[in-house]
Order: sequence, then structure tokens, then C-alpha cells
Amino acid sequence: MKEKILHILKNSSEEFVSGESISKELGVTRAAIWKYIKQIREEGYEIESVSRKGYRIVNSPDRLTAEEVGEGLKTKYMGRNIMYFETIDSTNIKAKKLAAEGVLEGTVVIAEEQTEGKGRLGRSWISPKNKGIWMSLILRPDINPMKVSMITEVAAAAAVKAIEDMGVKAYIKWPNDIVVENKKLCGILTEMTGEVDKVNYVILGMGINANLDLEDFQSELRDEATSIKIETGKNIVRKELVAKLLNYFENFYESFVIKGDIEKSLEICREKSILLGKEIQVIGRNEVKKARALDIDNEGRLVVRFDDEKEEAIFSGEVSIRGMYGYVE
Ligand code: BTN
Repeated sequence: MKEKILHILKNSSEEFVSGESISKELGVTRAAIWKYIKQIREEGYEIESVSRKGYRIVNSPDRLTAEEVGEGLKTKYMGRNIMYFETIDSTNIKAKKLAAEGVLEGTVVIAEEQTEGKGRLGRSWISPKNKGIWMSLILRPDINPMKVSMITEVAAAAAVKAIEDMGVKAYIKWPNDIVVENKKLCGILTEMTGEVDKVNYVILGMGINANLDLEDFQSELRDEATSIKIETGKNIVRKELVAKLLNYFENFYESFVIKGDIEKSLEICREKSILLGKEIQVIGRNEVKKARALDIDNEGRLVVRFDDEKEEAIFSGEVSIRGMYGYVE
């Protein structure tokens, strides 16, 4: 009911809507409407109420609900079904459960806070309340499971474009980090369930440090992690960033999974790469090797030249990459 009232107020293009018309439309008493308006206000909406005129929204909070994110969406299906949580263990865990239950492709699980946010390689992911973007997309691409890792690059391309639209110069640290000023600002965790030749579903988890303060990071992370707020000194409107990201992502994702064309995404990954041309460390299961990052090939692999002059194209997932002395450089 609360959502329905909010929807009516949002669609009144800043005009007052009378309590009477809402109560008629929804079949509830005006006293009940008043109660719901109170709850909506408690969620951070500023609602003006004038006798004989009714209610109107003056200001909306930066919540990542379907109602708020939906205002900026231009997609057909990506983010058209948003499952919103104030707090959750991990959006990836929830998304996996929902995917197994059969929810539609493009469904997004989003939370204001994660208590057990997961990073790659079993690490944890700091996800403080109302400060970041912690979300997971449920995808059902009809592609060879070998190509699923390329979805990470599609997502990285979308993320770097959306973050730049918020006024920050960002780069991609192949394959799944977005960095600003050589520090990590966004991470992507792609998980897949399927068979040898068939993908059941892919969970694309994305964490973006939007409005985190330095104190939100543990001290040992402060040299390697950052947020948009730390870099610009300003809070951003997170719901705008989510909508932009989903808009870019649907476009790039459709090119890839429907037309089989990933070039647009890879072009961005190359152009915005922080690694290409640099000396890096390729960290495998058993050894660490020095190399120079040369290119990203048409399969999305990182082409490197090792010290013994041998060139190799490496898949994401096989290795992790670091700079010679730190996270990037
Ligand atoms: C990384 O290690 O760089 C990947 C981090 C991915 C974090 C996001 S936040 C939303 C989603 N839910 C999770 O538990 N993890 C991902």
C-alpha cells in the first residue's frame, strides 16, 4: 500500500493529490492514507500536506528502491524488477536463491547494507549502510559457459562509463576492478551455475564505493581502496549511478549475448585499462611472474610478455594481477 501511495504521488508531476482521490483509487480510508504518509516520511521523503489540496512530494531520499532507481532507467528489462533490502547478508547469496527459484533475467537484488559482503578469492567486502552500491544482477545468457567470464568485462565497461558520468576519472584494472587514482573503487564478483555446455544462471555482483568515508575502510585497506566521495569531496546521488550503470550494462550485454559482439565493451576495457603498457605481477596458484601487459585480445584475455620474452594470453580467473610494488603500480 505504501508503495502504491508513493507511486501515485510520484506520478502527479509535483501537483497536489487529495487524500480523497488516493483513498478512492486504493479503496482505503483517509485515516489509513495519513498513517502511510507518516511512514513514507519516516523513510526520508519530504511530503507537503495542505488542507483542501492534499499531498505532494517535495523531496525524495537517495534510497535504492525500485521507485527511486526506476526514474532514471531506460532499459527494457535490466533492473525492471528490483528486490530491495535495508540489510542483507550478501546480495549475491540472495540473488542465487532467487535465480534458483526462477526469477526473470534482469532482476536486481540491491541492499543498503551487507553484513557478509563477499569479495573475490574468499575475501570479505565492506558494505556500510546507505553509503555504497551493493547489488547483484541475475542473468540467464544463452552462451557457452567458457564465455561467461567475459560478462565481467562487459560489466566493467558499463561501470567505468557510469562512474565517469558522475564526474570521476576512472580506469579498469583488468578484469574486474574499477580504480580511481590507483585505488580500488568498485569490484565485480561473477558467479555461475551451469553444466559443461549450458549456463543456468549468472550472478553479477557489483560493489561500488560511492559515499564511503576513509574511516569506513579498515586501516590496512586505506592505501588501496577509495570512494567517489573521498576522491571528489562530495556525496553522489547513488540512485542515479545505479540507473546509469544498468542503462549502459543492458546495451553492452545485449550486443554480447544476442549479437555475439563484445567489441564495444572490449574497446572500453582497452581504452580505460590501467594495466596496458605497464610492468605487472601475474599471480598464479603456485608462482608469481613478472610481465608486461600488452593488450586485451578479442576473447577478453590479457596478453602479457614475460621476462623470458614469451607471450601469453591469460584468462581472468586463472590469475590475479598486481602492480610491481602495490595494487596498481
Ligand atoms: C571483489 O573482490 O573485487 C569483488 C567484490 C564484489 C562485491 C559485491 S557487493 C554486491 C555483491 N554482493 C556480494 O556479497 N559481493 C558483491
